[in-house]
Amino acid sequence: MKSELWSRRAFLRMCGAVGATATMASAGGLERVTAASQSVADRTPVEVAQDEFYWREVQLAFKLDRGLINLNNGFTCPSPRVVLESVFRYMEMINMLPVHYQGMVANNIQTIRRRMANEFGCDPEEMALTRGASEALQIVQNGIDLKAGDEVLTTEQDYPRMLTTWDQRVRREGIKVTRIQFPVPAAQDDLYRRFEQAITPKTKVMHFCHTTNLTAQLFPVRRLSQLARSKGIVTIVDGAHALGQFPFKLRDLECDAYGVSLHKWLLAPIGNGCLYVRKEMIPRFWPLQAAPEQQDNDIRKFESIGTHPWAIRAALGEALAFHQAIGAERKAARLRYLTLRWANALKAYPKVKILTNLGEPAEAWGVAAVNIEGIDVRALARFLMDKYRVIAVPLVGGAPPNQVFDYQALRVSPNVYTTLEEIDTFIEAMADAAKNGVPEDLIPAEDEPDLFPREGID
Ligand SMILES: Cc1ncc(COP(=O)(O)O)c(C=O)c1O
Repeated sequence: MKSELWSRRAFLRMCGAVGATATMASAGGLERVTAASQSVADRTPVEVAQDEFYWREVQLAFKLDRGLINLNNGFTCPSPRVVLESVFRYMEMINMLPVHYQGMVANNIQTIRRRMANEFGCDPEEMALTRGASEALQIVQNGIDLKAGDEVLTTEQDYPRMLTTWDQRVRREGIKVTRIQFPVPAAQDDLYRRFEQAITPKTKVMHFCHTTNLTAQLFPVRRLSQLARSKGIVTIVDGAHALGQFPFKLRDLECDAYGVSLHKWLLAPIGNGCLYVRKEMIPRFWPLQAAPEQQDNDIRKFESIGTHPWAIRAALGEALAFHQAIGAERKAARLRYLTLRWANALKAYPKVKILTNLGEPAEAWGVAAVNIEGIDVRALARFLMDKYRVIAVPLVGGAPPNQVFDYQALRVSPNVYTTLEEIDTFIEAMADAAKNGVPEDLIPAEDEPDLFPREGID
């Protein structure tokens, strides 16, 4: 009934106020999503999460290949049309006369810095825009002064590139890195205690994920940051997957530095990230590319990387507008609804095990991990792809300097554009595998390439 109400009201509003299909099309779906959100403003995010009429408007804002069911949004997410179109627009504009327009677009980035800071809860002077989380995190990982013997505390399930970054400092400068292991899912108190017990008088940095890229294990960031601060230890938090997926304010985390992939859950064009650095900490970190001394206290020193594609960064403004049009709370509620839909349905199969904490209060939204007893996850991923055209990534632990863990899991990550039909196809596929197994010959040989080869992509 409410959905009908919204459709009618939204339709009338759009006919009256906008009244032109061409205008709606050129806005790449943003106006329709905005109108849809206005029409459900009197309902809770949890109620809206179940309103397929609402989410239909969001789904239509993307140009996708619906022949494939993408449940690997933990990788890089597609941008909505409005974002992609703005990349083309800015590129075309800059290309007309780079010496004129590039500087103009670059100056306008200050507006985006301010909008990002307002949305995610920090001072604009604490928000640096980068090309991704790898860059953001490496700025602070490589930028902090450490000497031989100083210790960094991290985990075996932190992101491989970030572990490699610390590993390079071990080889280059003789610092020591301690990697904590933890079971999945882990309780927040357990994670806190593991860090607390691993701290030594030589610990100078604690580096951990807000949520991991594996099972989406959530970490008690604020408590760990307070613990670290009380001992003079610097905190670097990997928020690649967190910002834009579920709501929180950066300043509330109380960490020193926080790196993000904006081409993941904020749906920004590929090549966007950000780095939050607590104001007092800015002078403690050297930038990756040299900046003048006058910029020691300026967050912009982390952005001095020479000529780069400003169109990509400028289009971040549209990605933020799209995020705000849905609303952070509604987005998180929908992601959680989709995750709980498949996870609850698969409870009927005793061999299915969920490795992510899905209880209340919420610790997981759009990413969760699952396995089926007795089935190799690489074979399972191939089976899902071959028979059902479902893409989900198999997780298998490696050896240092990569992530080390002793479980296998399939990471499942839908997005705001995912339909219930797509989730239900995944449920059907997993039920098929749980009941009937998967063909033996799908188990890949050691030297067989990955289902989605990622050479040079990490
Ligand atoms: C936990 C985590 N940290 C860092 C990164 C690197 O992010 P980016 O690809 O934006 O450099 C990723 C990417 O998947 C990630 O999952």
